[in-house]
Amino acid sequence: MSRQSSSPALAATVLLLLACFQTVSAHFSIVYPAWRGNTLLPDKQWDYPCGGQRVTTNRTKWPIDGGALSIIPGWNAGHPTSFWYINMGFGTTPPNMTNIIQPVFQITGPSKDPFPGHFCLPDLPLPKNASVQVGDNATLQVIQVALHGASLYNCADITFVERGQEDPMPEGMCSNSSTIGFNLVYSTTSDSLRAMVVPSLFTIFALVVAVGNWVL
Ligand SMILES: *[C@@H]1O[C@H](CO)[C@@H](O)[C@H](O)[C@H]1NC(C)=O
Ligand SMILES: *[C@@H]1O[C@H](CO)[C@@H](O)[C@H](O)[C@H]1NC(C)=O
Ligand SMILES: *[C@@H]1O[C@H](CO)[C@@H](O)[C@H](O)[C@H]1NC(C)=O
Ligand SMILES: *[C@@H]1O[C@H](CO)[C@@H](O)[C@H](O)[C@H]1NC(C)=O
Ligand SMILES: *[C@@H]1O[C@H](CO)[C@@H](O)[C@H](O)[C@H]1NC(C)=O
Repeated sequence: MSRQSSSPALAATVLLLLACFQTVSAHFSIVYPAWRGNTLLPDKQWDYPCGGQRVTTNRTKWPIDGGALSIIPGWNAGHPTSFWYINMGFGTTPPNMTNIIQPVFQITGPSKDPFPGHFCLPDLPLPKNASVQVGDNATLQVIQVALHGASLYNCADITFVERGQEDPMPEGMCSNSSTIGFNLVYSTTSDSLRAMVVPSLFTIFALVVAVGNWVL
C-alpha cells in the first residue's frame, strides 16, 4: 500500500450517498488493510471467498504479531444488525481461509437504511498456532452475515512486517462511530435460557446478549 486517500471519511460519505440509490442489501467495505478492490460496483460481495476479487499485489504491510482492521459496514444496509467473521489465509495465494482471527460477533446499526460510520478493531491477534515470518504473505477475509443467513465477502492482502513498520491507518479511521454498537454472540443448550429468548428458531441457536460496548 503506497498511497493513502487524503480524506477516506469524505470518500466514504460520497460512496455511501451513491449506495443509497441502489437496491437494498447489506454491503461493507474494508478500509484498512486495503481491500482487494471495490466489490460494491459491480456488486460481487456475495461471491465466496473474496467477493469475486482475485489476489492482488497491492499488499498492506501489517504487523507480524497482529494488527488493526477498519470497516465501513453500513452500505445499502438492508437490516439493522449483522454478524461478522474474520479469518486469515496463509501464503501469497491462500489455499483456504479457515484460520479464525476473531470469533463471530454482532454489530448493530441505527436502522435498516444505509448508515454512516465505521468500526475499527485495533489489535487483532494472529490465528491460533500461526507460524509466520517477516516478509510472508497472507490474506484477511472478512465475512458479514445477515440475520437471514446470506453472507458477503471481502479480502485484504497483506505482508507481515516488524511491528512499527506497518502501513499507517488512514487518518481518523481507527475509531468506533457512535452509530454502531457491538453484541456478544454465543450458543447455549440450557432450557432455562432458551425460555428467556424471543421465540424465533434462530435465536435459540444464537442468543445475542446486548452489553453495549464490550471488549472483544
Ligand atoms: C492500493 O491500495 C491503496 C491504499 O488503499 C489504494 O489507494 C490504491 O488505489 C490501491 N491500488 C490499486 C491498484 O488497487
Ligand atoms: C508476497 O507477494 C508478493 C506479490 O504481492 C511477491 O512478490 C512476494 O514474492 C511474496 N512473498 C513471498 C514470501 O512469497
Ligand atoms: C488450509 O491451508 C493451510 C495453509 O495455510 C494448509 O496447511 C491446510 O492443509 C489447508 N486446509 C485445508 C482443509 O485445505
Ligand atoms: C494448536 O496447536 C495445539 C498443539 O498442537 C493443538 O492442540 C490445537 O488444536 C491447535 N489449535 C488450533 C486452533 O489449530
Ligand atoms: C471498537 O469496539 C470494539 C468492541 O467493543 C472494541 O474491541 C474495539 O477496541 C473498539 N475500537 C476502538 C478503536 O476503540
